[in-house]
Amino acid sequence: MTVIAPDWSPSAPLQRLDPSWANAVGVELAVLRLDLLDPLISGNKWFKLKHHLEQAAAQGARGLISLGGAHSNHLHALAAAGQRFGFASVGLLRGAPQDTPTVRDLQAFGMTLHWLDHGAYRARHQVGFWAPWLQRYPGFHAVPEGGGGLPGALGCAALRDMLQRQLSTIGWADSDAWWLAVGSGTTLAGLVLAEAGRRPVYGALAVPERYGIATQVREVLREAGAADQGYRLVPAARGGFARSDDELLAFMQQCEAETAMPLEPVYTAKALLALREAVQGGYVARGSRLVFVHTGGLQGRRAALRSCRLNQDGYTQA
Ligand SMILES: Cc1ncc(COP(=O)(O)O)c(C=O)c1O
Repeated sequence: MTVIAPDWSPSAPLQRLDPSWANAVGVELAVLRLDLLDPLISGNKWFKLKHHLEQAAAQGARGLISLGGAHSNHLHALAAAGQRFGFASVGLLRGAPQDTPTVRDLQAFGMTLHWLDHGAYRARHQVGFWAPWLQRYPGFHAVPEGGGGLPGALGCAALRDMLQRQLSTIGWADSDAWWLAVGSGTTLAGLVLAEAGRRPVYGALAVPERYGIATQVREVLREAGAADQGYRLVPAARGGFARSDDELLAFMQQCEAETAMPLEPVYTAKALLALREAVQGGYVARGSRLVFVHTGGLQGRRAALRSCRLNQDGYTQA
């Protein structure tokens, strides 16, 4: 069986978000709720996968193979898409075998899993990494970690139209800027390409700066023939990727209580906390209208919050 590009163009709602810290200084927020896109293929993942799937279909590929960690939102969406749209999926997982809620879902969705020790996984960017896997899975299309690269970014450009279509539903004639969490920088690069300088895109880095995301974003923009401008990366990793702390967890709980919008601590809560810091630090002008992208990831929350315990003040580190 070969991969068929699905005819599926889901849309996510744009909603007003009124946290007290934004109201207090006259900054207006809206959120593009990609977490509500679909119960399984949620967040920014579908957009990052779309062009990879189209490429795979055009090549007559027999399935898709990709890689990620034991809580990977990307593999989760890929496996769910495989089950939904009838294509085979293979996931290469980092480290020793683990039993996480995500891994159990991958298996239930029918993804074939292989565990790579850290050394083997580190080689993922090297030329020739995929060759033995494509020998083992002939005719499969390899998708880079996180659905990254220019094809991933091009799929995310659709988010601009999604916003444009819905601005009037929240009574806005326009918005001033985007704000979103950044892992590989693919989603940010897609928005930068779509905006072509019209609205700035602010990316809150959920990974440390030494991961070289700035270079990766520049590379995608260069490959697309676009100028390296129209965006800014803001440090927001708070001590490391997937590290949480009491302030983050308290913010997350307070924000959820105030807005009824679920967050997770790895990407979306860090990005929104970085936005609060920018707003409270006076870096966002009164009267600004910002669109926060809820990039999903709530499936990963099951494990992320397991390592924290609840007390009467909220979540704290276990
Ligand atoms: C929930 C969530 N938000 C944001 C991101 C960051 O997206 P990108 O890698 O496109 O920067 C990711 C990672 O892919 C993610 O899983």
